[in-house]
Amino acid sequence: MRILKWTTIGTVALLILLEAILFSRAGFFDPGFTQGFDQGKTDWVYASAIEEPAAPGEPEQPFEPEEPVIPEAEPTDPEEPEAEPPQSPETPTVTPNDPTTPVRKVLSVEEATAQGILLLVNKQNPIVPDYKPDDLSPVKYYAENRTAASRYLRSEAADQFHRIVEAARDEGYTLVMTTAYRSYGFQQILWNNYVAAEGAEAAARYSAKPGESEHQTGLAVDVTSPTVEYQLTSSFGETPEGIWLAENAPRFGFIIRYPQGKEHITGYLYEPWHLRYVGEAVATEISSNGLTLEEYLERKQ
Ligand code: DAL
Ligand code: ZN
Repeated sequence: MRILKWTTIGTVALLILLEAILFSRAGFFDPGFTQGFDQGKTDWVYASAIEEPAAPGEPEQPFEPEEPVIPEAEPTDPEEPEAEPPQSPETPTVTPNDPTTPVRKVLSVEEATAQGILLLVNKQNPIVPDYKPDDLSPVKYYAENRTAASRYLRSEAADQFHRIVEAARDEGYTLVMTTAYRSYGFQQILWNNYVAAEGAEAAARYSAKPGESEHQTGLAVDVTSPTVEYQLTSSFGETPEGIWLAENAPRFGFIIRYPQGKEHITGYLYEPWHLRYVGEAVATEISSNGLTLEEYLERKQ
């Protein structure tokens, strides 16, 4: 009887010990387990409940950005003339800013092409929107911060522009272009921006409306230099580069198209940066006689 009593006590003690060991292995004091335990869940449910969440990473479908819409021109591509007082009129041969001066017929592609490198495009002589020279050639020397869409000139003008830049470089001057050929659409963007900023009347003194810009001919190029931080500013005309350019452009066939004091003829403020290709003989005659292209062509009629 005594043996039975001690056997019973021993068995009970053994059972209690076994249960204690089991609870301990299951993590009884672990709050997570407590939660699972309270919810009547088993160990494997608990284990799955504490799995690391899926690592954030690539979404299931790779992101494919839409093809960016590249505007034909950078709307912020400026020509920045400084305000200048109106020039005192000389005897005008044409009156570009006189609203009573009739605009001549818009030149067709054929008519514009027939005029060759002496093509006259101004406020009175617009060209059709789809005029585009068929011999545009890349220009090598350009300011990096301007649109690549404009780095073209007609072939002969591009070659001569390269020569003038190289001749300047040989004498220690750095010249680059900002914009040269501009499509009708490009000019439209520029014009709209200027009008929004300053109004049409002010804008018309330094910017052509679309169809009225000789940049559309592929024979005009705007030039700048590091000395004016690649800006288009009238002070360029007083820099060593600007002075060199005005003196030397004609022997390469270029003229300063909008000279000082000729706004009443050209329709535009002084632009020492705007070169126009007309060929060496005509450029020399124009510059040595202090003419504009309008005056030269009128004399030749
Ligand atoms: N700045 C010149 C006049 C043009 O816009 O063509
Ligand atoms: Zn220009």
